[in-house]
Amino acid sequence: MASVLGIDIGGSGIKGALVDTESAALVSERMRVETPQPSTPEAVAGAVKQVVALLDYTGPVGCTFPAIVKNGVMHSAANVDKSWIGMDGQTLFEQTVGMPFVVLNDADAAGVAEMTFGAGKGRNGVVILLTFGTGIGSAVFLNGQLLPNTEFGHLHLKGKIAEARAASRIKDEKDLTWGEWAKRVNQYLMHLEFIFSPDLFIFGGGVSKRHEKFFPFFTLKTEIVPAQFFNDSGIIGAAMSAAQG
Ligand code: BGC
Repeated sequence: MASVLGIDIGGSGIKGALVDTESAALVSERMRVETPQPSTPEAVAGAVKQVVALLDYTGPVGCTFPAIVKNGVMHSAANVDKSWIGMDGQTLFEQTVGMPFVVLNDADAAGVAEMTFGAGKGRNGVVILLTFGTGIGSAVFLNGQLLPNTEFGHLHLKGKIAEARAASRIKDEKDLTWGEWAKRVNQYLMHLEFIFSPDLFIFGGGVSKRHEKFFPFFTLKTEIVPAQFFNDSGIIGAAMSAAQG
C-alpha cells in the first residue's frame, strides 16, 4: 500500500502525517492541532477531522489514543476527558470523518513502529518501550510480538502512580533539573527491570530527543536506547496498523 495517514492523539496535541508504510518515512508535512480542552469525544473527533482535512487525505486512517483501546472502544482515560470511558472511538471517528479507522493505544503504536523499523528492529527476547510525555505509556514485546494494552505508567512508585512522578510533564511542571528528573525515571526503570528482566528498554516520547541529557544518570543493568523516530513513532505505527487493515 502506498502512503497512509497516521494520527497520534496526545494529551496536548493531535499530530498527523502521511507515512510510506513500507519504509516508515513521513511523506507529507507533519500537521498539529491543539488537543481541545475539555477533550470530550466530540471535540477530539472534530480536531481529528481537521487534521485529515489539512492533509487533504482520503483513505484508511490509523489513529492512536492515550488509553486502553480494545476493538475500537476506550476503557480508560487518564489524561483525556473521562467521558471517553466506554466510548466506541473507532465508530465515532469513522462517522465524523467518513473514512475507515483503526484505533490503538499510543505506546503500542510507537512500539510497533520501533520494533519494525527502528530501535527494536531484529531484537528478540523481552523488549519494553516506554513513552514519556503527558503520561507514561508502555508497549511490551516478546520475540517481536506485542502484548497489547499494558499500562506500566500506572504502576505505583513511592506511594504515587509512576506517571505522576516521572512523566516528562512533571519535569516541566515542577521545573526539575535533568538530574532530578532522571533520578525519578531511574527509580522507575529499576523497578521495571527487577519485575520483568527485559533484554532491552526503548525510551520514547518527545523528550527522547534530549536523551544525552539524562541517560548518563541511569544505573540500569539493562541496555537502554532512545526511540529512533522520537515523537513520530506513534504516527508511523498508527499508519502501519491501518495499512494492515
Ligand atoms: C495512559 C496510557 C497511555 C499513556 C501515554 C497513560 O496515562 O493510561 O494508555 O499509553 O498515558 O499516553
